[in-house]
Amino acid sequence: MSGGSEFVVVANRLPVDRSGEGWRRSPGGLVSAIAPVMRSRQGTWIGWSGAAGEELEPFETDGMHLVPVPQSSDDVRLYYEGFSNATLWPLYHDVVAPPIYDRTMWDAYVRVNQRFADAAAKVASQKAIVWIQDYQLQLVPAMLRKLRPDLRIGFFLHIPFPPLELFWQLPWRRQILEGLLGADLVGFQLPGAASNFVRLCRRLLDARYVKQDVFWDDRIVRARSFPISVDVGELKELTERASVRERAAEIRTDLGDATIFLGVDRLDYTKGITQRLQAFGELVGDGHLKPGQAVFVQIATPSRERVEQYQLLREDIEQQVGRINGEYGELGFPVIHYMHSSYDRAELAALYQAADVMVVTPLRDGMNLVAKEYVACRSDLRGSLVLSEFAGAAAELKRAFQVNPYDIDGLKAILLEALNADPVEQSRRMRSMRKRVIEHDVNRWAQDFLTALEHSHVPLP
Ligand code: ADP
Ligand code: G6P
Repeated sequence: MSGGSEFVVVANRLPVDRSGEGWRRSPGGLVSAIAPVMRSRQGTWIGWSGAAGEELEPFETDGMHLVPVPQSSDDVRLYYEGFSNATLWPLYHDVVAPPIYDRTMWDAYVRVNQRFADAAAKVASQKAIVWIQDYQLQLVPAMLRKLRPDLRIGFFLHIPFPPLELFWQLPWRRQILEGLLGADLVGFQLPGAASNFVRLCRRLLDARYVKQDVFWDDRIVRARSFPISVDVGELKELTERASVRERAAEIRTDLGDATIFLGVDRLDYTKGITQRLQAFGELVGDGHLKPGQAVFVQIATPSRERVEQYQLLREDIEQQVGRINGEYGELGFPVIHYMHSSYDRAELAALYQAADVMVVTPLRDGMNLVAKEYVACRSDLRGSLVLSEFAGAAAELKRAFQVNPYDIDGLKAILLEALNADPVEQSRRMRSMRKRVIEHDVNRWAQDFLTALEHSHVPLP
C-alpha cells in the first residue's frame, strides 16, 4: 500500500476550518507555522475539517493538497474535546486545570489515531517523509511505522512536554511513549522537554539512551529541540503595506490616542488572560493609569467552546471585563475593549503596529507565536513586549520585559516599566529581539527539523 506523496504532514486540523458553507483559516499556532512551510514544499496535508461527520474528497487550497480525515460527533466529543483537550492539554500545561482521565476517551484517541495513520500510509509514496504534528496524534508514529516501515517519520510536539512527576499521572503513559518512539526524530520546542521525554523512556520503558538518543526496537530514536517561529516574510510584507499602516493609525485615532496595551490569544485558560486584566484593572484603580489615557485591547479567538473549562473561562473573563469597565470606565471611554472573535492577518498586523505594550502572559506555553509576531511587525523599533517566563519564547526573547504572571504585583510593576521605558532602551531591546526572530524564522525551523530527520534514519549497528 503506497501513494504518490513524497512529503506528508499529518495534523489533527487542516489549515482551513469549516465556517458555515465556506472555509476560513484554522485557529492556533500550529497552522500559522506549518501553512507557509507546506505552501513552499507542495506536500500533502492530512487533517480534519473541523466539522463533525463531514466526509470530504481531497482538495486543493492555496497551493496545498489537502486530504480530509473525518471525525464523527462521538470522535469529536471523546477524542478531540475529550482526550486531546480535557486530558492531554491540561496535563501537558502544568495541570493548570484538572485533567480528566476517562477510559472511553482513551479508546477514542486510539481509534482516531489509527485512522490518521491509515490515511498517511495510503497517501505516502515509498520512502516518503511523513511529519506528524502535536499532542492529538502521539500514537500515529508507531502505528504508521507498523504499516509502512519504509517511511521516514518525524514528530513535532507544539506544546510543552511535562516533567516526570506530572506525566506519571497518565494511566496510558507507556502507550504514549511507545507511540512517539515510532518516529525517527521526536522534536520539542525546548531542550528541557526533550530531556523529560528521554528520562521518561528510561524510567517507564527501561529504554537505554545516550544523551538524547533513545535505543528502541533495533533503532535509534532522536529527541531534539527545535523552537518554532513565525513567517517573517509574510509579516514584513503585511507591515509594509500602506493599507496596514493606515489602519494602525486609524486604530490609534479611534482609541482616542490613548496608550494601547494589547493581548491577542485563543481564549484559553493557559494564556493568563485573567491575570493580565486584573493587573491592568488594578493599575487603573490605583490611579497609575487613567481612563481615556490608557486602554487594554484584548482580542480572543473562540476556542474549544464545548469543553467545560473553556466555557468557565469565557464566563470569568466576560464578568471581569464587565466589572472593570463598570467600575473605572467613563462615558465613551471603556478601559478594556474585549473582542471575542478572530481577525485576519492584516488587521492583526495593524493592531501589533498600533500597540504600545504587547502583553503576553501565559501560565505555560510551548512557544507562543504571538510574541514573535509582535516583534516581527515592529520594524519601527517601537513598542514594548511584556512576556511570561513560562512561555517557550522567553528562552529566545531575553530582552522582553519578562514576568511571572502569577505575581500580580510583579505584573503591575512590569506593565508600568514597559510603558515608561525610555525610547532608546525600547529600541535596543526591540532590535535585539528582532535579530533573533528574523534569523530564526519558521522556514529555518522547518529546514532544521527536516535536515535532522534526514540524518536520523539510523538502524542500530
Ligand atoms: P496557540 O497556538 O496556543 O493558539 P500561539 O501564540 O503560538 O498560541 O499561536 C496563535 C496563533 O493564532 C498566532 O499566529 C496568532 O496570530 C493567531 N491568533 C491568535 N488570536 C487571534 C485572533 N483573535 N484572530 C486571529 N488570529 C489569532
Ligand atoms: C494549539 C495546538 C494546536 C491546535 C491549536 C488550535 O496551537 O498546539 O495543535 O491546532 O492550538 O486549537 P484547536 O483545538 O482549535 O485545533
